[in-house]
Amino acid sequence: MYNAKAFSAASATSPLVPTTIARRDLTEHDVQIEILFCGICHSDLHQVLNEWKEVMPTVYPCVPGHEIVGRVTKVGPAVKKFKPGDLAAVGCMVDSDGTCPACKEGEEQFCPNLTLTYNFPDKHLGGVTYGGYSEGIVVTEQFVLRVPENLNLAGAAPLQCAGITTYSPMKRHDVGKGKKVGVMGLGGLGHMGVKFAHALGAHTVVFTTSESKREDALRLGAVEVVMSRDANQMQKHAMSFDFILDTISAQHDLNGYLQLLRRDGSLTLVGIPEKPLAVAAFSLISGRRSLSGSPIGGIAETQEMLDFCGKHSITADVEVIPIQKVNEAYERLLKSDVKYRFSIDMASLKSE
Ligand SMILES: NC(=O)c1ccc[n+]([C@@H]2O[C@H](COP(=O)([O-])OP(=O)(O)OC[C@H]3O[C@@H](n4cnc5c(N)ncnc54)[C@H](OP(=O)(O)O)[C@@H]3O)[C@@H](O)[C@H]2O)c1
Ligand SMILES: [Zn+2]
Ligand SMILES: [Zn+2]
Repeated sequence: MYNAKAFSAASATSPLVPTTIARRDLTEHDVQIEILFCGICHSDLHQVLNEWKEVMPTVYPCVPGHEIVGRVTKVGPAVKKFKPGDLAAVGCMVDSDGTCPACKEGEEQFCPNLTLTYNFPDKHLGGVTYGGYSEGIVVTEQFVLRVPENLNLAGAAPLQCAGITTYSPMKRHDVGKGKKVGVMGLGGLGHMGVKFAHALGAHTVVFTTSESKREDALRLGAVEVVMSRDANQMQKHAMSFDFILDTISAQHDLNGYLQLLRRDGSLTLVGIPEKPLAVAAFSLISGRRSLSGSPIGGIAETQEMLDFCGKHSITADVEVIPIQKVNEAYERLLKSDVKYRFSIDMASLKSE
C-alpha cells in the first residue's frame, strides 16, 4: 500500500477538502496511473450529496471522479497492453468478475460483481473505492482504456463517462443519417450527445432551458434549438422524432417530450434525477412509443467510442480548473453554469 493525495467529502453537507488515501501495491495485472485530468460529472455531485441514497448510499469519506486521463507510471508483470509513459484512461468501472454472461458479452456494466470507480466495496483494500480526484490510481489492465494521441487530454477526460453514456444509447438506437434526434439538456452529457448525433449524421435538435446556450448548441452540431419551457416551440415538433436522449439531472415533465416522438419512437433516459419521474400511460400508448434507460457502456464499446473520437477529433468542451476550485465548480454545476464540463488539472494537487 502507498499513500496518494486526494480530495474527499466527509458528509453530504461538507465541502471537498484535501486528504490522503491508500492505493494498493500493484498485483500482476495492475496498471498504476498518474492522473493528469479528471472531469466533474453531475453524478459526482449527486453522490457527494447522497441524493441516490435509496439505491447506492454514499459511504464517507467520498473521493469522487470517474472521468480519468493520465500517464502510466508502473505496470504489473502480466500487463500486456500498457507500459510506463503510455497515455491511459479510466471511466466509471474498475473491475468485474469476467465470467458472468454480461461480462462475456462485453457488457461489464451489468455484471452482478461489478466494482465502480468510487463509493463501491473495494475488493483489494476493504472499505470503498476512491475515484479520480486524486494524484494516482491503480486499476486492473482490463479496465484501462487507450487514449488517442491526437486528443487534448483535458477535453478527453470527460469521454470516459459523458462520452460513453451518450454514445452507447445512440449506437443502440441506430442514430445516423435520415434520423431526427433530440437531446434534452445541454450540459456535460448533453453537449457530447449533440456532438455524437451530429458526427453520426443525424438531424440533431437540442432541448434546453437556457436561451444563452442557443448559439453554442448550433456550433456543437444542432440544426434546431427548442426552448423546452415554451409550449409553442415544443408543439411544432409533435410526433416527429425517431429518438430522444434525456440527459436532464433534475425533476422535469417527461410527457411533453414523449409526445414529440413519432410512431414507434424511443426516448432513453441517461439523466438520473433524485426522485421518480411521472409517465402518463397515453404518452406511450398513443404512439406505441418506448421509454428506456441506459448506463454508461461496456469496456469494448468505450474503447470504440474513444477511437471514434480520435478519428473525428471529438473532445468535451471544458473549463479547466485547479482542484482548489472544486467546491465552487459544484455550486456552478448545480446552476447549469458550465460550458460544458469542468476538467480538473490534477497538477494543482501537488501543492496540497
Ligand atoms: N446513465 C448513466 O450512466 C449516467 C452517466 C453519467 C451521468 N448520468 C446522469 O446524467 C445527468 C446529467 O449529467 P451531466 O454531468 O451532464 O449534468 P450537467 O452537466 O449538470 O447537465 C444537466 C443539464 O440538465 C439541464 N437541467 C438542469 N436542471 C434542469 C431542470 N430543472 N429542468 C430542465 N433541465 C434541467 C441543464 O441543461 P439546459 O441548461 O440546457 O437546460 C443542465 O445543463 C445526471 O443526473 C447524472 O447523474 C448518468
Ligand atoms: Zn459520470
Ligand atoms: Zn461479470
